Amino acid sequence: MKKAVYPGSFDPVTFGHLDIIKRASEMFDELIVSVLNNKAKTPLFSVEERVKILKEATKDLPNVKVDSFSGLLINYAAEHDLHIAVRGLRAITDFEYELQIAQTNKKLSHEELDTIFLTTSLEYSYLSSSSVKEIACFGGDISQCVPEFVEKLIHEKYANIDNK
Ligand code: PNS
Repeated sequence: MKKAVYPGSFDPVTFGHLDIIKRASEMFDELIVSVLNNKAKTPLFSVEERVKILKEATKDLPNVKVDSFSGLLINYAAEHDLHIAVRGLRAITDFEYELQIAQTNKKLSHEELDTIFLTTSLEYSYLSSSSVKEIACFGGDISQCVPEFVEKLIHEKYANIDNK
C-alpha cells in the first residue's frame, strides 16, 4: 500500500492546501494529512479544531485521513511507517526553505523519509494561511481563499477575539 504524509500547520486550511491534498490523494492509496502541534506558536485554531476542519474539508476524499503530531516529523513518520512526505511549492521563495527541511529530514531519518513536492496550481499560488488571517482580521473578503464553512469559523474567531 502506497502511503504518504502531508504535514503542516493548516492554521487555517486554504484552497491551496486542499488542491495539494486532492492531487496527492490521487497519487497514493492513503494520504495522511497531519497537523503539527507546535507549542512555540499561538495558533488561531487549536490542533483539535484544525483536525476537525480538515476532516470536514476532506470528507469526500475517502483515502485521506487526518491526524496530528508533536515533535519531529521523522519520528512521527517512523512510528506510522510513512516514508514519503508531500509538500506544496508556491514559488521559488518556498523552495529554499523546503529544500533545507527535506534534506534535513532525509539525513536525520537515515534516508527513511523522502519528500516530494507538488507545485501549487497557479490560481492558488498567491495564497497563504498568514495572509488569510491578516485579511480576515481586518474584515476583508476571504471567500476566494477558504471553503465557506472555514470562512465562517475564521470570522467567528476574530469576532470573539474583538469582544474580549
Ligand atoms: O504549514 P507549515 O507551517 O509550513 O508546515 C511546516 C512543517 C509542519 C511541515 C514543519 O515545520 C515540520 O515538519 N515541523 C516539525 C518539526 C520537524 O520535524 N522539523 C524538521 C527539521 S528542521
